[in-house]
Amino acid sequence: MAQTVKSAVFPVAGRGTRFLPATKASPKEMLPIVDKPLIQYAVEEAIDAGATKLIFITGASKRAIEDHFDSDPELESALEASGKQELLESIRRIVPKGVSCIYIRQGEPLGLGHAVLCARAAVGDEPFFVHLADDLIASELPCLTQMAAEHERHGGSVVAVETVPQEDTSSYGIVAVDESGRVNQIVEKPAPEDAPSNSAVVGRYLLAPEVFDKLETTGRGAGGEIQLTDAIADLLEDAPVYAYSFEGKRFDCGSKLGYLKATVAYGLEHPDTGAAFHEHLRELLAE
Ligand code: UTP
Repeated sequence: MAQTVKSAVFPVAGRGTRFLPATKASPKEMLPIVDKPLIQYAVEEAIDAGATKLIFITGASKRAIEDHFDSDPELESALEASGKQELLESIRRIVPKGVSCIYIRQGEPLGLGHAVLCARAAVGDEPFFVHLADDLIASELPCLTQMAAEHERHGGSVVAVETVPQEDTSSYGIVAVDESGRVNQIVEKPAPEDAPSNSAVVGRYLLAPEVFDKLETTGRGAGGEIQLTDAIADLLEDAPVYAYSFEGKRFDCGSKLGYLKATVAYGLEHPDTGAAFHEHLRELLAE
């Protein structure tokens, strides 16, 4: 019933308009939290959950992502020559042996659903993860690992959910679930008065491959985009989809405030900066 999930899809073709001008020529997913870009946190989470095939759906101005995951012999030699062994190891660890990267261009940013459909041939007929790098989740056990365990328990698709304030439902896909946690309704960006609950889907999905057939026929939905939520709504009729309340704290790094909160939280935890940053914040708040 449950299958090991080997493919992880990273849709990174959005324009990141909420972060302009920072995202004019460089991808939102390359914004660093302390010393690692968002997309590297995403890749580490997927590898931890067992993924060995990383599929990036890219668009305009996203070359930096390919460069980041490619080897850089010149940089490696320079670090080696100057005895910076620790940094050298941190560069070499970015993509471990046995893990491959595939880059697919989404010709036009027609929406998240369309971006996921672009991964069809690369994924094949198996369940797969979808990871939105701008939703950064700090947790004991990485969120995708938690979801893979949930999939082991009952098969089917799994979407990560979190309770949001009722007035924010129009920013998310919103689900209604039965007593077993199975989703029986999912709606993209409903107005608060129309929302079936305030349980919101966040940027982690474990999807059955049947969703690709649904995406083939999904028309444009909210915002004129081909929405992943609409394809999942079609899937509900044929196959189980479970809502999973993950353990952890999510930061919406696609928004300026969420990004700043993540920077502070991760800066306080980081071994190189934690103590001094804590002291600095204490002084700042005392002023
Ligand atoms: P967002 O809704 O966050 O859009 O997309 P965005 O373009 O990245 O950012 P803003 O809202 O303009 O600031 C959700 C996810 O779907 C991907 C984005 O890269 C992001 O990871 N996406 C969206 C695509 O890959 N292709 C699309 O056509 C649309």
